[in-house]
Amino acid sequence: MADGSSETKSSNQMWGGRFASGPDAIMEEINASIGFDKKLYAQDIRGSIAHATMLAHQGIISAEDKDKIVHGLDTILSEIDSGAFEFSRRLEDIHMNIEARLAALIGPAAGRLHTARSRNDQVALDFRLWVKEELQKTEKALTGLIAAFLDRAEEHAETVMPGFTHLQTAQPVTFGHHCMAYVEMFGRDRARVRHAIEHMDESPIGAAALAGTGFPIDRHMTAKALGFREPTRNSIDTVSDRDFALEFLSIAAIAATHLSRLAEEIVIWSTPQFGFIRLSDAFSTGSSIMPQKKNPDAAELVRAKTGRVNGSLVALLTVMKGLPLAYSKDMQEDKEQVFDAAESLELAIAAMTGMIRDVTIRADRMKAAAGSGYSTATDLADWLVREAGLPFRDAHHVTGRVVALAEQKGCDLADLPLAELQAINSAITDKVYGFLTVEASVASRTSFGGTAPSEVRKQIAWWRARN
Ligand code: ARG
Repeated sequence: MADGSSETKSSNQMWGGRFASGPDAIMEEINASIGFDKKLYAQDIRGSIAHATMLAHQGIISAEDKDKIVHGLDTILSEIDSGAFEFSRRLEDIHMNIEARLAALIGPAAGRLHTARSRNDQVALDFRLWVKEELQKTEKALTGLIAAFLDRAEEHAETVMPGFTHLQTAQPVTFGHHCMAYVEMFGRDRARVRHAIEHMDESPIGAAALAGTGFPIDRHMTAKALGFREPTRNSIDTVSDRDFALEFLSIAAIAATHLSRLAEEIVIWSTPQFGFIRLSDAFSTGSSIMPQKKNPDAAELVRAKTGRVNGSLVALLTVMKGLPLAYSKDMQEDKEQVFDAAESLELAIAAMTGMIRDVTIRADRMKAAAGSGYSTATDLADWLVREAGLPFRDAHHVTGRVVALAEQKGCDLADLPLAELQAINSAITDKVYGFLTVEASVASRTSFGGTAPSEVRKQIAWWRARN
């Protein structure tokens, strides 16, 4: 209700020709989108300049009017950039705020800008341009995160840590290998981003309200001017479609989910009980009562932002699911979800990139944990298969008995005397001890994509050539 209530009594100057009076105050409040769609001002102005230029080129408006329009729009752009522009809720949205200001600046020529155009294709264009730019930013941010992981993976290609399943110690792996798992995940996210950019690279402007227009417009010209590959092919679909926003949100939700799993690991690893990592002061906070504490707040917030992003995806899917073709005002609810998710994702990627670059890896603690929990039991079973010719199922059984013995004696597998091993299976020789260390275990896993340092280095090189 920022505007004077007397203003709300008059009918709208943009569409109010058939209206005797203005909207109820509540109608104005529920209808207005300027509070959030002002974010689209640069895209709106860019779109209008391309549209006016095309209209003049096609002889639909005069060159003089086009020049006035373009000049006026440039003025408005700098007014908004500098904060001098006054947005009015009475004018509903960004499109009408700009057009009304244009009329104030250049007079009647402003009224010619909306020829062969509707707010339906206008908003589809503005929002698409915004989402496309956001996808390009996301692609860059993911590249930075992948680069941070590649550096840490290289540094720790040989650092042994426990690999987990069910969060129980499973088999030793290298920290470099674990880092490269995230490179794969964020690499897929980036591939999805690139694919989405390709998908949405079509210009909506010229679809008009829904049916196209009788004016001799050139949609290829505006598409080219706005950096799109080509114009959209169906005017009804063009003003009904928000797939590009849904695609952005689903990509964001998957990426945020990856970030959240990483955040969860950071939270666990930084506890004194695990002690695998030490977070930098820059990405943690202290407690106001417990002086010893260092809390992984940044990681926790990255984990929590995922809730917002996933919520935005579900919200927009729900808005869209019951809409008949073509445009319905429901679709105005698309923007806040996308803006919020975009801000959350950008922040989460930036915070995570900083954390990964800064974190101290406690290789001694990782190695100690890697050797506990009989993590090389599979190596013993594999050795029995290879060296003693046992079928794997029998080797598994023998190894189970060896683990039970070690557990009973409270020692590691490598500490069991040979005689006691041979009492369980006579084929065991002293050569087996060379295979029970965590280093030997990881070095042996040279299968493609395996955890051996030699293999991890190959994967790092593969990604470096593609990042
Ligand atoms: N503010 C509107 C939106 O975001 C712009 C399009 C309005 N179109 C209309 N026919 N009322 O969706």
